[in-house]
Amino acid sequence: MRRRMRPRPAGRIVGVKNSSVLASALAACTLILAPSAPATGTHVGSDTCKKCHFDIWSSFRASGHPFALRSDVDRRPLPLPGGHDVEDVGWIVGGRTHKANYLDTDGYLITTAYPGQPNETPGRNEYDLVSGEWLDLHAGETKPSDCGRCHSTGYVAGAPNPNPGLVGTWELEGVQCEACHGPASGHVGFPFSNPLVDPSAKACGKCHSNGDLSQVLAADGFLRPNSQYNELLAGPHRTRFCTECHDPHARGDLSFRIECTDCHTHAAMASPKAFQGLGRRHLDHGVRCIDCHMPYVVKSSASHGPWKADLRSHLFEITLNPDAKMFKAGGTLAKGKLTAGYACLGCHVEVADKWTKKGKPKKAEAWARKHAAKIHDD
Ligand code: HEC
Ligand code: HEC
Ligand code: HEC
Ligand code: HEC
Ligand code: HEC
Ligand code: HEC
Ligand code: HEC
Ligand code: HEC
Repeated sequence: MRRRMRPRPAGRIVGVKNSSVLASALAACTLILAPSAPATGTHVGSDTCKKCHFDIWSSFRASGHPFALRSDVDRRPLPLPGGHDVEDVGWIVGGRTHKANYLDTDGYLITTAYPGQPNETPGRNEYDLVSGEWLDLHAGETKPSDCGRCHSTGYVAGAPNPNPGLVGTWELEGVQCEACHGPASGHVGFPFSNPLVDPSAKACGKCHSNGDLSQVLAADGFLRPNSQYNELLAGPHRTRFCTECHDPHARGDLSFRIECTDCHTHAAMASPKAFQGLGRRHLDHGVRCIDCHMPYVVKSSASHGPWKADLRSHLFEITLNPDAKMFKAGGTLAKGKLTAGYACLGCHVEVADKWTKKGKPKKAEAWARKHAAKIHDD
């Protein structure tokens, strides 16, 4: 087990300003952004923006983006993997809503608990915030990490990093204002030179995507995480922007800025008087459009039975075709539409359990399909 001690660099990993390689790579990035953005200069950090954009800054500070990766391990109220202390954890990745991962002071993913001790255990390295349990991620492997690609600001992919476990370098930890708005020193000095504003789904998809954009990856009977852009493109909202539904500065669960019925005015349930059917009964019990159309079928860390994991899907469309399957053969790709089982049985566990116990899980799906056809009827 690697336990070389190296002083953890404070804040920045490398002095980007001193590196001509990085400086020219950054200049190239700025040029790519140039057509829509006159923004130039260097990254100055989100606290610089606070003075003039206080409301946006406060809402942003309550969200996950700025804390997506951090080296101030001692300030984060999270447990560390067994046998590790603040001295040998270099960075925490995530740890905001669902799970936390830990990098050692060289930048490698920590994959062993109690290293060098009699009770040394491969794994027990991923902390699940919801259950409080320790899960296994790449147990015992030596894993260099490219997390900075999506968890940092001013990331330069090819640049050599003095920390052997880190792939690429970054200027600021976490997804800061300038990860989306570009380096803003020019704007801060002269606010009328506006920074980049790109509301497109593609801009979010730079990080919220997983692999080939024409596919939606799956594993263990659920969709893979950080694939919101892949899912969006596979479903009926493929031309919508993430920012039509999400305030990009707000915490995920508080960021929904529009009602589904603002666009889907015909969805009969919008009118309680006209609509008395099974769908109305759901809404009266506090079930929302997203509970069926964006069920928890994406697995970030844990699953809760065969139909429910821990993140909401962005596929939206539910198919009632009895031959439809959620996944392609092999189970590593999703087909793009939710089946009734995945839309309904995460809640209707009693029905799912009943048929699973009888060894006939298909009957549970058939139950869901039958009743699903009546949801939007009046
Ligand atoms: C000295 C005050 C000041 C500081 C500091 C400042 N801004 Fe601004 N910002 C402004 C003003 C004023 C405007 C409005 C300019 C306009 O409408 O042309 C603005 C507009 C913007 C816009 C909208 C541009 C558009 O095209 O609509 C963005 C994005 C922005 N700022 C981001 C930032 C970020 C990111 C930071 C920190 C790195 C920052 N600002 C720091 C004053 C400031
Ligand atoms: C995850 C990407 C992202 C981050 C991080 C981000 N923004 Fe934005 N910002 C956007 C997008 C996209 C828009 C376009 C307007 C919209 O959809 O709300 C925007 C709009 C703005 C605007 C102009 C419109 C408005 O709402 O007044 C300002 C000013 C701004 N951002 C400042 C900031 C500051 C300051 C920070 C950090 C405290 C920040 N942004 C962090 C994506 C981001
Ligand atoms: C291609 C971009 C990308 C890369 C590379 C990436 N992530 Fe992420 N990660 C995301 C996005 C986007 C999210 C949030 C959305 C989601 O989970 O579906 C996320 C979420 C997470 C979370 C959960 C955060 C929370 O608060 O629950 C953890 C932990 C995490 N990533 C760890 C890592 C680690 C460790 C690495 C490097 C080994 C890594 N990620 C590399 C994009 C990425
Ligand atoms: C530079 C990479 C990057 C970009 C660009 C980006 N994100 Fe994220 N986003 C992440 C990562 C990493 C996380 C996981 C952070 C965490 O919770 O630890 C995340 C988390 C989120 C969350 C859940 C966070 C919470 O507070 O609950 C939402 C919602 C989100 N992003 C929306 C967006 C939208 C909308 C855009 C485009 C305007 C966007 N993101 C652009 C990397 C990015
Ligand atoms: C900004 C407008 C907008 C918002 C907000 C919106 N949608 Fe849509 N939705 C659309 C459009 C446009 C289509 C495509 C319609 C088509 O293909 O005929 C669509 C398609 C769909 C479909 C597939 C329709 C079909 O015919 O099979 C479903 C299901 C759906 N949306 C559900 C939702 C849900 C649930 C929400 C709330 C989380 C939502 N939508 C929010 C605009 C929107
Ligand atoms: C209890 C689960 C459930 C709830 C709650 C629910 N839906 Fe649906 N919805 C379904 C199912 C199942 C289908 C597929 C029905 C079919 O194909 O006949 C569907 C189909 C749709 C469609 C495509 C068919 C059409 O009528 O255009 C849209 C759009 C839609 N729902 C929007 C919404 C909106 C908006 C809400 C919230 C007001 C909502 N749904 C609430 C289960 C639900
Ligand atoms: C039609 C509306 C709509 C669109 C478009 C949309 N989202 Fe969402 N998203 C939602 C809703 C609603 C939630 C659930 C919020 C809640 O928990 O209350 C959500 C949740 C999320 C979460 C948190 C997942 C979780 O379960 O914690 C992330 C991350 C996210 N969206 C990112 C994105 C990104 C990135 C895009 C664009 C590629 C996008 N969304 C497009 C409506 C939308
Ligand atoms: C967010 C959780 C949730 C989801 C998702 C959900 N339901 Fe329900 N369902 C409920 C609740 C709550 C009730 C009301 C129970 C009551 O009346 O006591 C209910 C009631 C029902 C009933 C009436 C049950 C009875 O005993 O008479 C049927 C049938 C039903 N749901 C079918 C579905 C179908 C089909 C879907 C998927 C399209 C679905 N539900 C999705 C929570 C959910």
